Amino acid sequence: MKNIITFVIFALIAGFSTILSAQNYPFELPKLPYAYNTLEPVIDAATMEIHYSKHHAAYVKNLNAALKESKYESYSLEELMLYAGELNAAIRNNGGGHYNHTMFWNILSLTSPFNPQSEVGKAVVSTFGSPDTLKMLLSKAGATRFGSGWAWLYVTTDKKLAVCSSPNQDNPIMDVSPERGIPILGIDVWEHAYYLKYKNLRGDYLTAIMNAINWEAVNKNYQEALVSPLLKTIEKETWTELNNFHEVMAGTFHPSENGDLKPIRERSGELLAKAKALQSGKIPASFNTPDIKKSINDLVTGSVKLDQLVVKKADDKTITKSLSSLHDVFHTIQGLCRH
Ligand SMILES: [Fe+2]
Repeated sequence: MKNIITFVIFALIAGFSTILSAQNYPFELPKLPYAYNTLEPVIDAATMEIHYSKHHAAYVKNLNAALKESKYESYSLEELMLYAGELNAAIRNNGGGHYNHTMFWNILSLTSPFNPQSEVGKAVVSTFGSPDTLKMLLSKAGATRFGSGWAWLYVTTDKKLAVCSSPNQDNPIMDVSPERGIPILGIDVWEHAYYLKYKNLRGDYLTAIMNAINWEAVNKNYQEALVSPLLKTIEKETWTELNNFHEVMAGTFHPSENGDLKPIRERSGELLAKAKALQSGKIPASFNTPDIKKSINDLVTGSVKLDQLVVKKADDKTITKSLSSLHDVFHTIQGLCRH
């Protein structure tokens, strides 16, 4: 019984983000958490009905069709966002459309005002000075986004709040986004979100919707984002020096597995340079531990030895053994490769 109660409490606390992260193919249109007319006069019932039952429903339907029998069928929605850069346009656009709209419905309310005592309330005031400044920045991000897109409040990899906008159905989780992090509040600035009521006046729509934010939901999204494993994944994926080392490691180690040592014999100096850059660069906060630091130092030591072996023209077996052990050290930092 205690376990059941614990599970129910956890499920309630976990809420929206967990629902999204747990989603897998075939994806389903989530239930709208209110009636079509609940947000009037800010969002009229006709706009809400078309937006949800036509546009969002089409994203879900088209996403499933695009995923069917593709290698991405097994990906969660968050994984699809993370690796958007390698997806075809249909999966990227409809996957983003599904993720973004699921968040959008949940962060709207006429009865959940900004609370300066909440966790996100305190963070908004300390980051932007006031909720009005944040609303101004969000409105500006939405108004200046050319064409269709979104305005975002998101948690950065160093756990700060920031505002950005994205084109089309992109969002800050995506590897294609110049700003990376976990969105906690997204405003749809596609014409389908406002045109029936506001016509071409996107600014009027933005002004109105800033007073229809469900701050309780945003607070929950914020607290979940701060402890989300997804944030750590994005943090690692944006660690430039690690990615640079990985690129040379992958380009030399994998051929060596097939007996081809030409790449490592040509690139051992480059590998050493990337290891040294990793050692002297900034380690992201979540990875700044004694174990990771030791592994990075071991990478430099191992890369020096490997480079010396290559310079001395050591035999294939010796080079392979040295590169293999270096690869093992690398994966204590990187974790397992996706490919
Ligand atoms: Fe939309």
